[in-house]
Amino acid sequence: MSRKPFIAGNWKMNLTIAEGVELAKAVAAVANDAPTVDVAVCPTFVSVAKVADAVKSTALMVGAQDTFWETKGAWTRQIAPNMLADAGCQWVIVGHSETRGRFGGLSEEVQAKLAEVPGYFGESDKSVNMKAKAIFAAGLLPIIACGELPSEYEAGKTDEVVAGQIRADIAGFTEEQAMKMVIAYEPVWAIGTGNTCDPQTADKVCGVIRNTVKEVYGEKVAEAVRIQYGGSVKPGNAKELLSMPNIDGALVGGAALKAADFAGIIEAAK
Ligand code: PGA
Repeated sequence: MSRKPFIAGNWKMNLTIAEGVELAKAVAAVANDAPTVDVAVCPTFVSVAKVADAVKSTALMVGAQDTFWETKGAWTRQIAPNMLADAGCQWVIVGHSETRGRFGGLSEEVQAKLAEVPGYFGESDKSVNMKAKAIFAAGLLPIIACGELPSEYEAGKTDEVVAGQIRADIAGFTEEQAMKMVIAYEPVWAIGTGNTCDPQTADKVCGVIRNTVKEVYGEKVAEAVRIQYGGSVKPGNAKELLSMPNIDGALVGGAALKAADFAGIIEAAK
């Protein structure tokens, strides 16, 4: 079965509304010329509606970087999936390591600040799973992120950690939902560090993820589900990564902030 490549840009906490709209328009022009590739950008919550509006009649899709599992009520700070749908989103990233509090290359100064606020980043596999179900219920689709810490990688625990996360994150979906979910494998030590996982290793771990999906939902879903690699993807390494049999796309951070770099990655997926 052939799976349509999916390149998503995770803008994280970057760009003003005006900058986001400008970048999205440039990316939309590239997406319009790449009908064989699905392309999305995931701006901050404050930019998402304006960005979605600016690219409404183009091939570019829009996602958010997180959500909550309830639909409304007294939940200060939270944003419900139906609100993201209303803002023009089609996708939501859930379980990114930066929301799970699983960081790789933070400076000592930043680590010291985080040590003062234990539990601030409280995402767990359970909350990822509840959020993913709420995302489906709102008619949106999740990009479910997983990945091992540098220490887990060094201890040779990558497969075990990633399979464990995914088993918990995807529990209890319908078969139709599971076919449409996207999973992003992002080794924490490769995020924002410039250290890319070599394509063979990334492919092997994405294969472990596909097998885990197969254990839970069977062969048909495992063959249909798209698995992205994320972690310092750039125009220069995208082609090799995307040519691997188990890698169906990329979740891109830093290189998604420059139109030319992101265009190079979309080009590599064609
Ligand atoms: P990066 O981030 O491309 O800057 O490494 C990827 C991600 O965290 O999604």
